[in-house]
Amino acid sequence: MAMKTVVLAAALSTVARLTAAQFPPAAVHITSFNSSFILTPAQIEAGQLDNDQVETIQNIVRFDQSQCAFGGPLEDEFYTLPPLTNGTALEPGLVLKVQAFTDPTAYALPPNTALSRIMYTSLNFNGTVVPATGFILWPFTPRKTHTAGSRNSTPPDKLSTIVWAHGTSGFFAPQAPSAHRSLWYGYSAPFALAQAGYAVFAPDFAGLGVGKSWDGTEIPHQYHANLAAARDSLYGFEAAVKSFPERLVGNFVAMGHSQGGATAWAIAEAMVSDEFAHLQQSYKGSIPASPTTNFLASPPTEFMLATSGLMLHSIFPTFTLEDWLTPIGAARLRLYREIQGGISVLIQLILTRTDIVRENWDRTWYAAAFSKLDVGGNDFRGPLLVLQGSDDSRVLYNLTLAAVAETSVLFPDRDLEFMVASGVGHNPVLEATQHLWMQWIHDRFDGRPLAKAGSFRTDVESFLPIQQYQSTGNSFPLWAGLPEYSYEVPLSV
Ligand SMILES: *[C@@H]1O[C@H](CO)[C@@H](O)[C@H](O)[C@H]1NC(C)=O
Ligand SMILES: *[C@@H]1O[C@H](CO)[C@@H](O)[C@H](O)[C@H]1NC(C)=O
Ligand SMILES: *[C@@H]1O[C@H](CO)[C@@H](O)[C@H](O)[C@H]1NC(C)=O
Ligand SMILES: *[C@@H]1O[C@H](CO)[C@@H](O)[C@H](O)[C@H]1NC(C)=O
Repeated sequence: MAMKTVVLAAALSTVARLTAAQFPPAAVHITSFNSSFILTPAQIEAGQLDNDQVETIQNIVRFDQSQCAFGGPLEDEFYTLPPLTNGTALEPGLVLKVQAFTDPTAYALPPNTALSRIMYTSLNFNGTVVPATGFILWPFTPRKTHTAGSRNSTPPDKLSTIVWAHGTSGFFAPQAPSAHRSLWYGYSAPFALAQAGYAVFAPDFAGLGVGKSWDGTEIPHQYHANLAAARDSLYGFEAAVKSFPERLVGNFVAMGHSQGGATAWAIAEAMVSDEFAHLQQSYKGSIPASPTTNFLASPPTEFMLATSGLMLHSIFPTFTLEDWLTPIGAARLRLYREIQGGISVLIQLILTRTDIVRENWDRTWYAAAFSKLDVGGNDFRGPLLVLQGSDDSRVLYNLTLAAVAETSVLFPDRDLEFMVASGVGHNPVLEATQHLWMQWIHDRFDGRPLAKAGSFRTDVESFLPIQQYQSTGNSFPLWAGLPEYSYEVPLSV
């Protein structure tokens, strides 16, 4: 008895020593903790920034940098492009690097998900081979697939894949979703999809992650040149399957939101092209959510012209920023490119002035030429589930309606469901309709028939009066992985 007490006391004191080390004093958690970014005097002058704007931009950049695992793509060795080995014919879909185990503790992932990252080759809009990166988020256990008409399930030793095309994360290397602590969309899609038992492959569209190609030239992120992003998604999917042949079945549903919604639509269009004929058997359908189908008509105009203007010279070489922007607009965009900021920095630079855009930009040849790259009104391989909130202030409901209507008139035999969530905004459409699109995905992998063939519309109304709902997101998965922040995650064990 006495001996037991001694042993117990010794054990307790070991626990006490352990806990003292594990539970250090709580520190105040500043969200810009991992960055000391400052603007130089030359940058402040070039952008004609006042003191408040300088402080605002510095705050945002420091926050954004602190949202990156391992210091982000500019500091994380994973994003370094390996040299070309001689004799390798440069073609799209090649695996350049596999990081099978990505340390998840640097991320704010859901417990019992795991992460890998790959680097691979894609093609840009005009067909040049470019490197790109992407992540694979793994579930704890695979979802069983039910074959149509029976409850027999396939052995759950391999995973079906969701190819997730992210919405706008930024325009430069540092804004790769695979470096973001919550993979940019967090629970809105990738976390939810992995927790439903799917492998989630998500490209960082080319130009995000790896900033320079083998010859040292900048890789522009070809924003809303939708075919480019579709290629990054599909060649990336092929590279993911080559990287993990024993883990992935090799079948997929594509899904994306906003910019990625246009990508998901572009994937459906690409699936009728010869370029991707070899993937037709693997493809089960696509979900464009809040898809940008008429990019230059979407508000705010300053944002659309600035963001596409950043890369348009890579498609139309004679284009310069001054074709669309005023001198101060172009100066601020050059500053933006120099500091490689994210979306919130761009908003501060261009939406705080009214003299950014040139008059008659819409009569330029480039506006017409770029608009031809929009998705919609083209043949596609279905089934397609288009999600749209009626109160979307970014991708307007009427623009999506017009693209859906045009497409279904031109291609009445194709399967296209247009699901409209009443009273719902741009990003929140993903949460509002989550169990509906998740079931749609399950049904595609299970080989169940569509609710209806052809083109039709589904209206989704809120269960309670719409005014009772939280209409927009106002929080984020804050990484609290250092011991001094452990008091913030009492539910972490
Ligand atoms: C902070 O950034 C540095 C690089 O600047 C990086 O090495 C480190 O991993 C980051 N720390 C955390 C906790 O993310
Ligand atoms: C590739 O081959 C070329 C000529 O055949 C040679 O000059 C170059 O050094 C080689 N590069 C590598 C990385 O082996
Ligand atoms: C890229 O493709 C577009 C559209 O087909 C074409 O107008 C443009 O000239 C091409 N640009 C380059 C650099 O080849
Ligand atoms: C869409 O609606 C907006 C206002 O909500 C209007 O300004 C615009 O002209 C409409 N566009 C189309 C194509 O109907």
